[in-house]
Amino acid sequence: MYPERRLRRNRLNSAMRRMTETFKLSADDFILPLFVTSGQNKKESIETLPGVYRYSSDKLADVVSKVTVPAVLLFGVPDEGRKDESGSSALDSAGIIPMAISAIKSVRPDLCVITDVCLCAYTNHGHCGVLNENDVDNDKTLVVLADMAVVHAKAGADIIAPSAMMDGQVAAIRDALDDNGFNNKAIMSYSTKFASSFYGPFREAAKSSPDFGDRSSYQLGFSDKAQAVIESLEDEKEGADWLMVKPAVAYLDVLSEIRSKTLLPIAAYHVSGEYAMLKYAAKAGVIDERKAVIETMTAIKRSGANAIITYYAEEICQWLGF
Ligand code: PBG
Repeated sequence: MYPERRLRRNRLNSAMRRMTETFKLSADDFILPLFVTSGQNKKESIETLPGVYRYSSDKLADVVSKVTVPAVLLFGVPDEGRKDESGSSALDSAGIIPMAISAIKSVRPDLCVITDVCLCAYTNHGHCGVLNENDVDNDKTLVVLADMAVVHAKAGADIIAPSAMMDGQVAAIRDALDDNGFNNKAIMSYSTKFASSFYGPFREAAKSSPDFGDRSSYQLGFSDKAQAVIESLEDEKEGADWLMVKPAVAYLDVLSEIRSKTLLPIAAYHVSGEYAMLKYAAKAGVIDERKAVIETMTAIKRSGANAIITYYAEEICQWLGF
């Protein structure tokens, strides 16, 4: 106890501080999300996500040729005319995601390609699955998600990332992948995904807002910690190779709780609204962007994430000289 014990001794200078830093960021901590659209030679800016773009597949090849992080996470943004009740264009083997995967693999076969498997960008109502009256039909949706996963696996995706929050989606996808000869494809489940107001900018980017109601009958309520933990543990039992907590910053307690209950790797998704808050605060001169971002990412890593999905991934690598 003070005055015998002086904790500041270990913080006296930069060399001393470096020796106790436990959670240092590296390029390997990050996954870069990318939005893919149809057509050619497109790089569309997204108003609510400064610095993030929707690319056509050909342009995506240029982007990934310079990527430093080990993995990208792809989101398809189909044309409005291709959307229907059941999101059928998600099953097109010549659709935007299969095209994007081959474009990426042709320039960067070493890059790990993760694909988001969810129907919200492909349905004309914007919900994450097939409807039954005015709610999403869990079991009908599983069939489509499993088919979509197989389409992505055939096109060369390395990891399938289901984000629809349907019960049994990991088991359904695992079975479908195995039945089709893809037992070596991994599943990164969006296992603990909250109904969050921090997805706003993403929905503009992916054009995936629900046109009625919200997602609270399938995504988690932010005030129920028990269900949030159970969701991840169930996905582990169903055969997930990775778990996920999403969003990240407002849910670090949930991340750390799940960390203590599983040995699987966990990804944390620093979502669009979290990115936008930092970007806009920095633009307004309210915070030092670089320092605030490093602090945020270190906190996510400290809470137990093995990988952080963030729109900042490449900027961080530039800042840190990776
Ligand atoms: C698809 C999906 C969403 C996000 C990732 N996958 C949106 C949603 O659930 O509405 C959000 C990502 C972000 O905000 O950056 N279901």
